[in-house]
Amino acid sequence: MREKIAIHETAFVTSAFRASNEALSKDTYAKLWLTDKTEEHAQRYSNSVSKYEPFAHCLRNRFFLETINKLIAADKIDLLINFGCGFSMYPFLLNENLLHIEIDKPDIIDYKKQKIESFVKDGTLPNREIHYISTDFNHDKEIALLSEIKRIKKGRPSFILIEGVLFFISRGDAKRLFTLFDKIQDANEFIGSVSFRKSLEETKVFKKMISFIEGNLDKNEKFNYQTVDDMFYRSLERYNLINHCATLDLAKTYAADKALVIDEVLNEHMYILEKK
Ligand SMILES: C[S@@+](CC[C@H](N)C(=O)[O-])C[C@H]1O[C@@H](n2cnc3c(N)ncnc32)[C@H](O)[C@@H]1O
Repeated sequence: MREKIAIHETAFVTSAFRASNEALSKDTYAKLWLTDKTEEHAQRYSNSVSKYEPFAHCLRNRFFLETINKLIAADKIDLLINFGCGFSMYPFLLNENLLHIEIDKPDIIDYKKQKIESFVKDGTLPNREIHYISTDFNHDKEIALLSEIKRIKKGRPSFILIEGVLFFISRGDAKRLFTLFDKIQDANEFIGSVSFRKSLEETKVFKKMISFIEGNLDKNEKFNYQTVDDMFYRSLERYNLINHCATLDLAKTYAADKALVIDEVLNEHMYILEKK
């Protein structure tokens, strides 16, 4: 029997997708995480679910990179807090003065920290100020997380990013996380979030993803295939939804010439929120 993909290993798959088209993703470091096993998982996933998944992940990275860059240029943020950071390489793709908090499961954090330190040492990566935090969003660790983040944040204006994560956790855990975000942030700070709309559940491509996951992912008891409707974001009392777009919109912006079979695209939605 084929070895199953652990939830934290999905981060290798998304980084392999970003490495597939550096000109589009603008992630020139994603390739550092490539291994034969990673490429095999990424290939198997896109063959089974959608051949556009590498493209979609490149668009997503490009969108957040440009969004965060604009906020840095406008002097609106000094800190990026990446919840479920996986092997995202934003710290090395953004202005060197930005401070970073990277949060994920211990397996990811231990491996990423050690690899990044060695890449910085041998000159492969530039030096950046990164604080790493290991946690598990399935467990109520908000009090500890809040005090650790506040200690590093020291009132700096932040952008909280949560991409490729909500699908893996329950609605209750997601609500707890957004309550935590509210406690972390002050007025005029930002959240960038990614999720699938509920209506996608009816599509063939979503069903293919579920069937791939059922057969290939080592899920935990809390795994939930969570989809999120726009209302979830619109009903956050202390945040305004200031931008919202989906994979198919980003394709028009960044790759207008790309021929797409629309029904085969797993159309993810990206939301930018600003605290009131
Ligand atoms: C598909 S990857 C996305 C990684 C990264 N955000 C990106 O876009 O490349 C999902 C990430 O969420 C993390 N994750 C999933 N469930 C989690 C949980 N319960 N607690 C902490 N991290 C979790 C995984 O470890 C993994 O790094």
